[in-house]
Amino acid sequence: MKMNRMEEIWMIIAVGIIIIAMGITGYQAFALGMAPPSHKEHIDPQTVEEHPEFSEPGVYETGDNQYEVIMTLQAFQFEPGEITVPEGAEVTFRMATKDVVHGVNVPHTNLNTMVVPGYIQEITQTFHEAGEYIMVCNEYCGVGHQTMSATITVEE
Ligand code: CUA
Repeated sequence: MKMNRMEEIWMIIAVGIIIIAMGITGYQAFALGMAPPSHKEHIDPQTVEEHPEFSEPGVYETGDNQYEVIMTLQAFQFEPGEITVPEGAEVTFRMATKDVVHGVNVPHTNLNTMVVPGYIQEITQTFHEAGEYIMVCNEYCGVGHQTMSATITVEE
């Protein structure tokens, strides 16, 4: 059976697009190492409070201009709820949820992620401008979802 010429052309274009898309995705994943910022570190959501790292949430200075924020999330609060860091410091947030999935978003920055039960989430952010930032939960987590927030004060 002879194929219609136009049919052949479109088939080649369609297969070509698939091959190009797979090539781009493969190049990004394997050659450039682009992957979601998730870590495969496990934590039992039931015992977050007894976890050696998460038993005392807070802001810790870990090096020269480097800070670590150990943060726990639960309906409907972030702990610590008030974070103060210096301007230009590299701040690594280590987060774990005690109950359901929560979102973490600081508007006007690249800090935007999800915290899923069972996993430790890590994200690093540098705040280049002093001021007060608000951290909100952007993943619906229950009736108090819209009240779930924390403040980040970046000092000069
Ligand atoms: Cu936590 Cu919405």
